[in-house]
Amino acid sequence: MKHKLTKKAVTCICVLAIGVVSVGVYACAPKANTGVPTPVGQSPEYVPEANQYGVVEAKDWADQYPDQYASFLKNNENTWPEGKANKNELYPEMVTLGKGYGYAKFFSEPGGHTSALYTVTHNGRITEQSKTQCLACKTPNVHYQVAAEGNDVWKTNLYEQVDEYTDGTKDVSKGEGISCANCHENNDPSQLSVLRADWKRAMGENADKVPESAQVCGQCHCDYSMDAQTGEPTSPYDDVTKMTPDDALQWYDEHNYVDWTYKSTGAKMLAVRHSEFEYNYGGEGNHMAKLGYTCSDCHMAVETNDQGEAYTSHFWGSPLDNEELLENDCNTCHKDLKAEVQAKHDEWQEKTHEVGQRAACYVQNLEKAVAAGTISGEQLERAQYIQRAAAFYWNSSYAENSKGAHNIDLVRHVVDQANTLLDEGDQILGVESTAEGFVSEYDPSVGTLDYGSDHYYNQQDPETATQDYGTEAAEKYGNQ
Ligand code: HEC
Ligand code: HEC
Ligand code: HEC
Ligand code: HEC
Repeated sequence: MKHKLTKKAVTCICVLAIGVVSVGVYACAPKANTGVPTPVGQSPEYVPEANQYGVVEAKDWADQYPDQYASFLKNNENTWPEGKANKNELYPEMVTLGKGYGYAKFFSEPGGHTSALYTVTHNGRITEQSKTQCLACKTPNVHYQVAAEGNDVWKTNLYEQVDEYTDGTKDVSKGEGISCANCHENNDPSQLSVLRADWKRAMGENADKVPESAQVCGQCHCDYSMDAQTGEPTSPYDDVTKMTPDDALQWYDEHNYVDWTYKSTGAKMLAVRHSEFEYNYGGEGNHMAKLGYTCSDCHMAVETNDQGEAYTSHFWGSPLDNEELLENDCNTCHKDLKAEVQAKHDEWQEKTHEVGQRAACYVQNLEKAVAAGTISGEQLERAQYIQRAAAFYWNSSYAENSKGAHNIDLVRHVVDQANTLLDEGDQILGVESTAEGFVSEYDPSVGTLDYGSDHYYNQQDPETATQDYGTEAAEKYGNQ
């Protein structure tokens, strides 16, 4: 935040040059004018005792950082899964495009940071086969444990690991979810620090082009892959300036990376996850990134306590719910940010849903052709690749949690890419794929949001729960 003033001043020219009428940018109004002081982080007076893994837990910083801690606890107000949309019901294309993979069973809107251990153990896609790798974005404990015990930790059973983190009580509120040590020095929360070693590698030598208050978010809010040898969560990137969907697909293709094989068509599929970092900072970055804004500026507003001291809110919510932020900052340039974002959501919804259904229809067409034996050889290979790549592009937009708000231009691009591929696929199959032609395969009895606390261990059919990675390339690079 502190670095922003200068950046914004410098980028004034850029704003004017953009000259976008729709937002009515009329002035370069840096935040300092709002009278809200900049928070100053003081180093702690003493360092509390760490837990058995070496992590100083959030609650133990409460006395020294009461404001940050109190706002951090506010994340518990997101009582997931209450009120969360069941996305597979809304967008059944996921059920078809993700068939054979966890997301086809369950996909909902996110919960809050503090409940990450709860959501990961209670969602309908984690099974007895799931490994500790999934905890890389849920708790700092696992990174400390890997540092101490080695990479084998990544391949252990997820449920058993969570049991350990919760002293066997299965009460995830006792375990340490996403916490101070994910984003700060373990011994000094006034200092930002990227915990994940694999993310540091992925950002490469241009890492410092992105402010640290966004780097820390990118650790988890990015697409990822799993290293089949070590089980380590890793990333299809090696430079922060080359984190775009196009670059990611190229990497996956060059490495023959496969998340799972689609049984009925033989396509080698990819799953894309929450690429918020890419949509803000990938390539040249979006408009707001160019203006010097970081994830924390929009999602962690500055607030003042009763003594009039400024601190950074650690409640990660929507900037649109923060009237003060809108008034003091955003709406100094945006005429009506809420309406602008709504327009982006609408466009995202229409385009992404449409192309998703079309891609699902294409898969159903391909399925029929394969079953009828009317396609083979190079044609089949190309048709399978089209399934992989078109679904990848659709998924890139679909899994990005801002629903178009972060980067509608990139949404348009990936949707175009998918449509171009599908046009070619239709030529090969000699059948037109359309959104209307897609037949929903959504089954309301699978992975619904209606589960109680006893679903800590999901009872799922091990037959369908086991993922099929059966190719050499998948063994080498796929998550197994
Ligand atoms: C998901 C990442 C993340 C987590 C988790 C997190 N912080 Fe922060 N913290 C930030 C960011 C980003 C800033 C703003 C830094 C900036 O803009 O330079 C910040 C700022 C701070 C500051 C500096 C003073 C201020 O208010 O800006 C303190 C102190 C702090 N956090 C304490 C904590 C404590 C204590 C915890 C755990 C209870 C915690 N943080 C958890 C990301 C995080
Ligand atoms: C250690 C991994 C991790 C880090 C670091 C992290 N996040 Fe998250 N974030 C998650 C996960 C996981 C979820 C979904 C949690 C769930 O569903 O339980 C999430 C959810 C969110 C949400 C949605 C919350 C809601 O209630 O709807 C926002 C907004 C968010 N993160 C912003 C940020 C920002 C901004 C940063 C950086 C300052 C950040 N995150 C850093 C893992 C992380
Ligand atoms: C310029 C401001 C801005 C920046 C910078 C920004 N976001 Fe967002 N973000 C938004 C808006 C606006 C939304 C949509 C909110 C809504 O619909 O209510 C959003 C939505 C989200 C969501 C979905 C929240 C939910 O509850 O489903 C997540 C997660 C998220 N952002 C994470 C990030 C991360 C991580 C970064 C940095 C890599 C980032 N954002 C950078 C403005 C921003
Ligand atoms: C200095 C002027 C300025 C301020 C202040 C400002 N914006 Fe923007 N914002 C712009 C411009 C210019 C664009 C690009 C034009 C467009 O998308 O219509 C933009 C675009 C966006 C977008 C679309 C994503 C993108 O970058 O293309 C979001 C979301 C956004 N702003 C959110 C915010 C939020 C949240 C705040 C307050 C925290 C804010 N803006 C403050 C000028 C500003």
